[in-house]
Amino acid sequence: MKSLVILISGRGSNMQALMEANLPARIAAVISNKPEAPGLETARSRGYETIVLDPRSYPDREAFDQKLAEAIDAYAPDLVALAGFMRLLGDNFVSRYKGRLINIHPSLLPAFPGLHPHRQALKEGVKVHGCTVHFVTAETDRGPIIIQAAVQVMPDDTEETLAARVLRQEHRIYPEAVRWFMKDRLKLSDNSVEVSDADFDNSVLY
Ligand code: GAR
Repeated sequence: MKSLVILISGRGSNMQALMEANLPARIAAVISNKPEAPGLETARSRGYETIVLDPRSYPDREAFDQKLAEAIDAYAPDLVALAGFMRLLGDNFVSRYKGRLINIHPSLLPAFPGLHPHRQALKEGVKVHGCTVHFVTAETDRGPIIIQAAVQVMPDDTEETLAARVLRQEHRIYPEAVRWFMKDRLKLSDNSVEVSDADFDNSVLY
């Protein structure tokens, strides 16, 4: 059976959605760069292997990335899924996992990459917001898009209400993207992803 390793930094609700999705793949381990990440306890209580790699224990980014890669490669996973992993990864790491490293970001990329995407969306007054699962490339929150889900922005939305609406969609699309990957339904070319499906293209959800 194929397998994946999940990288987290915090709450781990997307990790949990992947655990509950009955995926055609085994979650081999959960790795966190934050010892205090609440998601670690969730993973442990469900019997998953967890690893903590604290960047403060390494002299520089390259050394941390190298250690992270070693920890991942010990499981020889087919896929590495970033699920709220809030640390920039160096070019060497990203190219090592080219085509098998994916991320979820809470905006309709390429709009609002980086931190506070919901705040940015409210500031810009957009009427439609959402989330994106994409292959990771060297640039933060960029890379070939696998699936997106859109939500409406309501006039009385706060960052919190908007984040909650988007998060519900994140929990739908991330397992879907991983399922497609595991079933070899994603064809990645330079900057685009083709999802093969005999019936319809459902890579946009509302
Ligand atoms: C999620 O909203 C995820 O999309 C976001 O962090 C949150 C983590 O929540 N990721 C990013 O912003 C990456 N740039 P979770 O720990 O409950 O899954």
